Amino acid sequence: MSSTRSDAVIIFDTTLRDGEQSPGISLNAAEKLEIAHQLARLNVDVIEAGFPIASPGDFEAVQAIARQVHGPIIAGLARANAADIDRAWEAVRDSERPRIHTFLSTSDIHIEYQLMSTREDVKGLTRASVAQAKALCQDVEFSPMDATRADVEFTAEVVQIALDEGATTINVPDTVGYTMPEEYTAFLTRLYALVPDLHQAVLSVHCHDDLGLAVANSFAGVLAGARQVETSINGIGERAGNAALEELVMLLHTRGDAVGLHTNVVTTEIARTSRLVSRLTGYAVQPNKAIVGRNAFAHESGIHQDGVLKHRATYEIMDARTVGLDANSLVLGKHSGRAALKSALQDLGYTVDGATLNAAFKRFKDIADKKKQVTAMDLEALVTDELRDELAGYALEWFDVEASSRRPPHATVAVRMPDGELVEGRFTGDGPIDAIFRAVNAATGVDARLREFRVDAVTGGQDALGEASVVVELGDPAAAIKADFPGVLAGERVTGAGQAVATDIIQAAGTAYARALTSAVRKARAVADAGDADERAALLSTP
Ligand code: KIV
Ligand code: ZN
Repeated sequence: MSSTRSDAVIIFDTTLRDGEQSPGISLNAAEKLEIAHQLARLNVDVIEAGFPIASPGDFEAVQAIARQVHGPIIAGLARANAADIDRAWEAVRDSERPRIHTFLSTSDIHIEYQLMSTREDVKGLTRASVAQAKALCQDVEFSPMDATRADVEFTAEVVQIALDEGATTINVPDTVGYTMPEEYTAFLTRLYALVPDLHQAVLSVHCHDDLGLAVANSFAGVLAGARQVETSINGIGERAGNAALEELVMLLHTRGDAVGLHTNVVTTEIARTSRLVSRLTGYAVQPNKAIVGRNAFAHESGIHQDGVLKHRATYEIMDARTVGLDANSLVLGKHSGRAALKSALQDLGYTVDGATLNAAFKRFKDIADKKKQVTAMDLEALVTDELRDELAGYALEWFDVEASSRRPPHATVAVRMPDGELVEGRFTGDGPIDAIFRAVNAATGVDARLREFRVDAVTGGQDALGEASVVVELGDPAAAIKADFPGVLAGERVTGAGQAVATDIIQAAGTAYARALTSAVRKARAVADAGDADERAALLSTP
């Protein structure tokens, strides 16, 4: 049987769908759009933009990405039912290259206990849903969920049905991160043998990292014939996450010759994409993370340093510049003007005009007054911060904190309310940050508790910009929420995340806290307005 297989591996990015399902992540539509634009600059082949039926917010974000992001295929996820597929199609149909991705489990454990169904029903639903998707969209992907724990013969029957109905990509997920490279190879090889028609479609792999094997299993899948790999930036995703895009791509970039394969990813955009996703999701990248960790290219041991100074290849298999890690060079000086800032931002991939440029310029001048060097990474952090959607949200206008080791710190804050009113709040807390956060609660009248708080430096050096990430939970889960948000039920936990960048970490923390409150309050309203239990569950699952 002839095959359509090529030596280019399609990179399918699911940062905005599986990645967004990570606990604690809650991106708004503007943030998802910003990540999608960056994924297009990274030149991924497919962006899975979200799960449109999950909530109106998800739908709007997928639709905005489909309409505004050009280049990659834009996919929307749908369970194998008519409502999901219609909704996914509505969301992606305006893309130049839309895809519907529908899925249904083939493992007996899922069929019996989760779907409470039968193998026969799974076959029928697959036939109906792929046929429905195909009638709407040429490009249809089908995933037999939990395939690696399923009977391969039965999965093959389901895959054959999906192909008969016109699926163009068959994705074989290791949903719970259970398989091992050789086992996965054997499963895929057997699937090809049982379903020769699979050679006419694109075989895809989707691996979770529960046992730390997501990239190894994905690579095994590619060697077994898969030509699409589903990955996420920084490996974020359900539980332990998905295969990390940067690792898989750099594996094929560095060792591709050995296996005769490559991707179309612009590798020099990897580091910036990783930083953007980390910043907007609040998920830090571990220092020793392959490719994008702070230490991924740093040599500590004297022997290694000595070797690299003599000949780089003694201890380096990749050049940091290949993944864009040279972005910390000085780009602007204190006296740079608006036009220079605009052009530097353009070089970084941001087209900023009008009010946003003015605001970014004001922030740049403030930073340039305090910092000796304004680097590309500083600008990136600043513009991401400035582009945040603060419409109808709470915004910290100013603060005073009196801190001393002899008296409890006292904070006064002024918060711009969603209706434009400026309201002051005061609090004496356990520490200056605690005092600020509780003073913001006092000003806004929103009862919230801090769940997570982190401050990172954007770059090295004493004058580095500080980047704060905050997660809050509204009120007392059992009672207080109900008073403020009558549609939220007792026991439902409504959380929100916020990030901010500033030279002063107290300011960054207070601004991030106000943003987290905004996100939590918006979510509480959405939960109160949710149409059904599924929509509520989708909203409450993040963060
Ligand atoms: O892990 C999984 O099985 C998934 C499917 C929806 C493809 O994410
Ligand atoms: Zn998954």
